[in-house]
Amino acid sequence: MRVHTYLSKTDTARAIVRRLLALIDVADKPYFHLALSGGTTPAHMFDVWADEFAAQNPWKRLRLYWVDERCVPPTDAESNYGMTKKHLLDKVAMPSEQVFRIYGEADAQAEAVRYARMVAQSGMPMQDGFPVFDAILLGAGDDGHTSSIFPDRMELLQSPHSYVVAVHPTSGQKRIALTGEPIVRSPHVLFLMTGEGKRPVLHDMQSSADTGPAAYVVHHAKHEVEVFTDLG
Ligand code: 6PG
Repeated sequence: MRVHTYLSKTDTARAIVRRLLALIDVADKPYFHLALSGGTTPAHMFDVWADEFAAQNPWKRLRLYWVDERCVPPTDAESNYGMTKKHLLDKVAMPSEQVFRIYGEADAQAEAVRYARMVAQSGMPMQDGFPVFDAILLGAGDDGHTSSIFPDRMELLQSPHSYVVAVHPTSGQKRIALTGEPIVRSPHVLFLMTGEGKRPVLHDMQSSADTGPAAYVVHHAKHEVEVFTDLG
């Protein structure tokens, strides 16, 4: 795992956007398949992307997917797609036909199946039946979760399905979540982790035990995971 440390959350956001833009730039293929996470941390990164990197225009070559979605309509304040739309997509020239949201308003089980199938048919490479995204943006929760795989359901990391229905352990909210196998196969797994609350998880990710889903991803990834953080 390679940790890139910056002085502020804005510097961290700039660095991870630069890293993504560089990856898109050098990719020798018509489309770059990027899976985004939600939650609160990426909102600032998306603002920085839209506000400071407008001159660079990767949009025509980008295909956007989601790592996970809360089972709510896209207009709900909890929607990961809704957050991304507000902070990034509404401000840039991303062709809407290259944006593949998870339908949080649909029946969760049917949607996990539909989305996994759609991703498998999107043209990105497949390995052992799992999609290989060109890059995956992950966050980590204070409890060590990543995607919407929580520590009480570690077995979902080894699911034979690319997307599954998960349940938030305290709120009971249903989520649709990318599982461990596609995550560990991506050549570029980038974690964005800012704020003091993430320090214990970052520590766990740096230790050798699979203490939670985020640590599991780091230890089982087939390529070196990168972490962008303001935690010096
Ligand atoms: C979500 C996520 C999730 C997120 C972490 C960190 O829908 O919640 O995609 O995996 O990355 O929970 O979230 P915060 O940025 O809100 O701390």
